[in-house]
Amino acid sequence: MKRIGMLTSGGDCQGLNAALRGVAKTLYQHYGSDVQIFGIRDGYRGLIEGDYHPMAPADFSGILVQGGTILGTSRQPFKKMQVEENGVDKVARMKETYNKMKLDCLVILGGNGTHKTANLLSQEGLHVVTLPKTIDNDLWGTDMTFGFQSAVDIATNVLDCIHTTATSHGRVFIVEVMGHKVGWLTLHAGIAGGADVILLPEIPYDVDKIAKVLSRRNEMGKRFSILAVAEGALSKEEAKLSKKEFKAARAKMTEPSISYRLAGELASRTGQEIRVTIPGHFQRGGSPCAFDKMLSTRFGAAAGKLIIKEQYGYMVGLRDNKVVPVPLCEVAGKLKTVPVDCQEVKTARLLGISLGD
Ligand code: F6P
Repeated sequence: MKRIGMLTSGGDCQGLNAALRGVAKTLYQHYGSDVQIFGIRDGYRGLIEGDYHPMAPADFSGILVQGGTILGTSRQPFKKMQVEENGVDKVARMKETYNKMKLDCLVILGGNGTHKTANLLSQEGLHVVTLPKTIDNDLWGTDMTFGFQSAVDIATNVLDCIHTTATSHGRVFIVEVMGHKVGWLTLHAGIAGGADVILLPEIPYDVDKIAKVLSRRNEMGKRFSILAVAEGALSKEEAKLSKKEFKAARAKMTEPSISYRLAGELASRTGQEIRVTIPGHFQRGGSPCAFDKMLSTRFGAAAGKLIIKEQYGYMVGLRDNKVVPVPLCEVAGKLKTVPVDCQEVKTARLLGISLGD
């Protein structure tokens, strides 16, 4: 009897349940009743505390379209995983639970932080297979993570809706898009949603240049302007600061949201009326889009295949539209930022979209 544990860790996204289902269906198809899957609650917390339960094929039925994760999730900072906290060695606890469960393999669905811990567990000798999830698309080793396209759809829809009201009122709108420290989501939604200005963390902006773009549009008789701004976007001045200086500068700011700060700076420079919309966690909610249902299912099936072949220590990744195994040690600790000369950036520039630089 094969014994497989599954957990979902970090911020949730669309397609987690579809991916779990893909793994489970592949395993049941191959092993029939000769496999027992266990669901581990709330990510690594469940593994640390031994919070798990046996699952049956029916648990994976009807969840393809469900958002969120049926297993629950939690954020466990990697740094805190490595140190003993309140007398608890978390890595030792996770190994204990794995051994107590007599697992043949632990399937982990997560993003960047999750993959650092997954690699650590793999190096500690646990059999681990992982799947790349996050709306940020910032995981090294895969062209795309699941959750990303669904979030692009939502952020694009926000930009589409903002367009109509911005046109009616002749206003400037800033839409703040998630993505943590990278700009994939903003870049894709910005182009798909017809933004006039797209600001990414990878391309520091000059507020005077953006103000000029807005004024020029006004002079040309264009009554509205839409800015898609990544939550992690940086000004040219901020980009020059060291990590410590940056933290200190941000701590002093009375307005924590980049969008509201930018709105104030642009309003005083252009005299235009500026509104801000922040869709926030809305971008991570709801059902996966068709693309993500397909991608999650492909990843799930490929992860199931790795388990069947007893090929451990890998993440399944998408490369040139093929799902391939990528060694965990190649993925862990690396951030996939937007290359400033990638095709999407070039497309934006060709269209005359300002990137604020
Ligand atoms: O990593 C996904 C993400 O939604 C980021 O885009 C965002 O910066 C962060 O999570 C928000 O984290 P939390 O859900 O902990 O507020």
